[in-house]
Amino acid sequence: MNTDLYQHRGPLAIITLDNPPVNSLGHALRQRLVTALAAAQADTRVCAIVLTGNAKVFCAGADVSEFGTPRQTAEPVLATVLSRVENCTKPVVAAIAGVALGGGLELALACHARVALESAKLGLPEVLLGLIPGSGGTQRLPRLVGLDTALALMMGGQAQTARQLIDSGLLDAVVSADLMEAACARAISLADELAVHRTALPRARDRQLDANTTQARLASERAKLTPRQQLQPAYAALLDALQAATLPLDQGLQRERELFLQLQAGTPSKALRHQFFAEREATKRPAKLQAEPRPVQTVAIVGAGTMGAGIAICALDAGLNVILLEQDAAALQRGQQRVTGHYQGRIAAGKMKAAVAASAEARLSPTTDWEQLSRADLVIEAVFEDLAVKQEVFKKIDAHARPGAVLATNTSYLDVDAIANVTRRPQDVLGLHFFSPANVMKLLEVVRGGQSAADVLATGMALGKTLKKLPVLCGNAFGFIGNRIYNAYRKQCEFMLEDGAWPEDVDAALQAFGFAMGPFAVADLSGLDIAWRMRKAQAATRDPRERYVAILDHLCEQGRLGRKTDAGYYSYVDGKKSKTTDAVVRDIITQASLQRGITRRELAAADIQRRALLAMVNEAAMLLSEGVASRASDIDVVLVQGYGFPRWEGGPVFWARQQDRAAMERDLQTLAAEAGHGFVLADLSALLN
Ligand code: NAI
Repeated sequence: MNTDLYQHRGPLAIITLDNPPVNSLGHALRQRLVTALAAAQADTRVCAIVLTGNAKVFCAGADVSEFGTPRQTAEPVLATVLSRVENCTKPVVAAIAGVALGGGLELALACHARVALESAKLGLPEVLLGLIPGSGGTQRLPRLVGLDTALALMMGGQAQTARQLIDSGLLDAVVSADLMEAACARAISLADELAVHRTALPRARDRQLDANTTQARLASERAKLTPRQQLQPAYAALLDALQAATLPLDQGLQRERELFLQLQAGTPSKALRHQFFAEREATKRPAKLQAEPRPVQTVAIVGAGTMGAGIAICALDAGLNVILLEQDAAALQRGQQRVTGHYQGRIAAGKMKAAVAASAEARLSPTTDWEQLSRADLVIEAVFEDLAVKQEVFKKIDAHARPGAVLATNTSYLDVDAIANVTRRPQDVLGLHFFSPANVMKLLEVVRGGQSAADVLATGMALGKTLKKLPVLCGNAFGFIGNRIYNAYRKQCEFMLEDGAWPEDVDAALQAFGFAMGPFAVADLSGLDIAWRMRKAQAATRDPRERYVAILDHLCEQGRLGRKTDAGYYSYVDGKKSKTTDAVVRDIITQASLQRGITRRELAAADIQRRALLAMVNEAAMLLSEGVASRASDIDVVLVQGYGFPRWEGGPVFWARQQDRAAMERDLQTLAAEAGHGFVLADLSALLN
């Protein structure tokens, strides 16, 4: 008998979960666990069992890579393991340090007592993968902690610390040190009670929830589901499962299992799991780009506007030294104020201790002196989006940065090579495209210039990790991955305005699909003048045969630049967006249709969604065949993380793979015909296989 997890200590058996790196409950570990339990049960020297992990993880839950494979359903399944724990005639105490998540927490819930280190993190994050806990979490947790705490842990999916859960009823003891001693003491005392008083072992299964109050509470929770939660079946399923927690445990477990399996087989959960793996994959560099990153301790940021200040904040938060450079004292003061204002806000909101903020700000060196750049290991340029300005700035950076420093541009659309080539060291230059707000958004496009050295790219990827971002490597093409796809999408949405839809029709349809915001509301928010400026810059080289929608230009000509001028596609009163567009906008749009000779027609929401998505898919296929994206899944990461594409739809590539290919190709032909000159039909093969 393989009893490798089992260790005998005095009258106790210590079972230590051991499946690096996170003790996931794959089939082999489940098997070893059952064997160890049987050994402890049979060992006459043993009166109680302590189940533990290591300092970092108790257990991070199921092995997601087993999902949908025969190993997931091979005995012993997790439910069997849990039932062996719960029905063990000797007390089983969980000793929890580090994380206990998903199946890991469910394992602890099946134990007769739980003791945790105060820093331990406990949670049931299944909903984030479009699932519900599938091995008793929805049944045992509310029995122990009541509905409020159970809902808080499961609906948000965020873990809580043992310190936060100290009075919840989940934990029998929370300690600041000596976890094993405390857990062993608890095990011995349970064994004593059992021997002396013949009391039954405390089991979650033996508790009951009141059916009426549960039903009323869940009904109110159901009524509060947001539109986005309603698009994800896991939320309603979670409430259904909790309702079943009023039944005898075995019936409740059965209902939970049915709901879990339905969700697991459904598209939203597959999409969410796809994103989970795609994000992990994105941070890996292709084999031919393996190189040691250059060390980075001090970052210089040139330009302390919206982006520069945001990047400075996340670099300071990551413990780096930051030199913040501006063109003059007034701009520098505004930039510095953005950073200090941010920290003051965090302190005032109780989200950061004053001492921590002070230590971050102490690492900030605001300056207008270019000589200071010589101290930087990496320089990030975030000045105006204008090639000539950026080239001038890069010449100065080149003159002052030390040899070997990595030089990055945060450009959104410009050619990284045209910037790199004004320096004497284009091999040290790359793009680092942050998203706004830069201290919040996780996505970072790491743009590979034609001459970027492998270790420079490695440094960009490593910096992304240091800043707790999701770095995605992409090629140097107009708009890189994200903005290029978003442009194609927005263009298609503008076509739909000319064809007959109003901005609110397009926005509502795409929000109903799950986008955080529709494209016209987004445009108003970021300001129409950015696009207007770019359009004017491109006017001279634009092919006159191209279908060009001038609605945005006309809005800007009328001073409607979006939210900041209280009018754009929509109008704004006290910052509140109007529900529909006004007569001015409708007139501009109607004129645009007329000029193109289009008889306006109503577009159904489903058609709007399909056209917008197909435009994305077509562009995604092109990016992949051009090598701008090295992996199809990277495209999904970029769109979900940076552009509000609904995570539970997986991204444009995942979405495309769920569609009928012939129908998609037929509809793309129609889009191409309607767009006319300049619309390139992509070959979908690489994207779909
Ligand atoms: P911004 O206008 O808020 O800030 C630009 C700053 O650069 C200003 O403070 C200006 O004084 C400074 N600056 C200009 N010329 C300079 C020079 N010669 N030397 C030193 N400082 C100089 O612009 P924002 O929005 O921060 O954009 C900066 C860059 O980031 C642009 O390339 C933009 O395309 C890119 N970006 C912007 C995003 C956004 O959502 N705002 C998102 C991602 C990238």
